[in-house]
Amino acid sequence: MQTNDIPILTIDGPSGAGKGTVSRAVAGRLGWNYLDSGAIYRALAYAAVQRKLDLSDAGALAKLAEMLDLRFKTVAMPGVLLGDVDITLELSTETTGNAASIIAALPEVRKALFEKQRAFRRSPGLVADGRDMGTVVFPDARYKVFLTASAEERALRRYKQLKEKGIDVNLSKLTEEIEERDRRDRERVEAPLRQADDAVVIDSTALSIDAVIAACIAHVAI
Ligand code: DC
Repeated sequence: MQTNDIPILTIDGPSGAGKGTVSRAVAGRLGWNYLDSGAIYRALAYAAVQRKLDLSDAGALAKLAEMLDLRFKTVAMPGVLLGDVDITLELSTETTGNAASIIAALPEVRKALFEKQRAFRRSPGLVADGRDMGTVVFPDARYKVFLTASAEERALRRYKQLKEKGIDVNLSKLTEEIEERDRRDRERVEAPLRQADDAVVIDSTALSIDAVIAACIAHVAI
């Protein structure tokens, strides 16, 4: 199969809409590969903070992006390795998510990560989750979903998720952070979060995860 013939389902949307859980489950059901593009931005942000880089130093961040030795575990056993170190837990914090959103606004960073994301297009198919999968990274994707939910519902879900992991958080602070991150991701000049013209919108506010997964699979089966 030619690379361009490999089917892709892009799932874009704001933070906390359920993209990760849904994308992983859909990839597992379809037997397709999975790209968690947010984890790439998070890993770069994490590595930058570790090295005490200035998060506005686009040149240094782009250089770091080029040499980032990042490996993903499997769809069934999700996890991220930086070199030989498992950084899965570190990537899940709000601090890392916010730092990722800050560096993601830099065009140099997005450019340095572009081909790394494109390389995930492998047979038999790919589910790509992020903010600009259907608009910038894979504009030719056959299937596109824009997954959204109200900010309150997204904050609540994130709150429960973090609590389950034993991470202590405050719901109103989390809601504020989510709104701030949305604003930054939507208003940046380069590859802002927006719905692709040819994407179907799924509002998951009142839907179960299983219903959203079923809707995505039905979309691919069309
Ligand atoms: O999906 P996430 O919460 O793990 O993503 C963390 C941040 O990374 C998000 O706030 C913005 C950035 N990001 C991006 O700009 N483009 C993507 N395709 C994925 C994530």
